[in-house]
Amino acid sequence: MLEIRGLRHDYAGRTVLSVPAWEVAHGDACLVLGPSGSGKTTLLNVIAGLATPTAGSVRVAGEEVTRLPPAQRDAFRARRIGLVLQTLHLIGVVSVRENLRLAQRLAGRQVDDARIDEVLAGLGIAKLAGARAGEISVGEAQRVAVARAVVNRPSLILADEPTSALDDANCAKALALLLEHAAACGATLLVATHDNRIRERFARRLEL
Ligand SMILES: Nc1ncnc2c1ncn2[C@@H]1O[C@H](COP(=O)(O)OP(=O)(O)OP(=O)(O)O)[C@@H](O)[C@H]1O
Ligand SMILES: [Mg+2]
Repeated sequence: MLEIRGLRHDYAGRTVLSVPAWEVAHGDACLVLGPSGSGKTTLLNVIAGLATPTAGSVRVAGEEVTRLPPAQRDAFRARRIGLVLQTLHLIGVVSVRENLRLAQRLAGRQVDDARIDEVLAGLGIAKLAGARAGEISVGEAQRVAVARAVVNRPSLILADEPTSALDDANCAKALALLLEHAAACGATLLVATHDNRIRERFARRLEL
């Protein structure tokens, strides 16, 4: 599913990320660990095609994302990758449903309200469909962000520090949601974190 070879990323001549070789099989859940500044976010950005690495190869579902032209890269990301970023980036002035419809449109799909209802129900937030995304709680917003990441049935879900700001109870919940929903859509899941509370939940780890 994911195959990395000779990956290096430099900022201003300083190497901040180096991954000689790493592979993740289809459907696996994997933790990316490392202290602050070790390059976790940089790695996820490179895999998502949001940053072009200085050197190396990154294949996602057989596609060399580093070589795709920008427009094709954006289309590939919208169709195949679900992102849960630390700052959730929901659009606060429109409804939860509109946030999910936008994700469908960006992926070049027809709006599919039945799918949206199914995903929201699966996350226990069906009643929030009409709520403005800026007027829901942090825990609810986190669920909406997971809903948006899985609505297009991505083959890869990337989550950057999804739990570090949460208390223990919400940390366990957010993680369970990600693992369950990745499994439900058969997606590979990468979670980047320095949160030691969640280490034990993942059999596979990459230490940066
Ligand atoms: N846009 C940028 N320009 C220059 N340097 C950057 C940029 N983004 C990140 N860096 C540097 O790259 C290194 C890796 O940053 P990155 O954000 O990937 O770390 P991280 O492991 O995600 O850290 P954290 O746990 O704090 O989120 C850091 O030293 C950072 O200062
Ligand atoms: Mg980071």
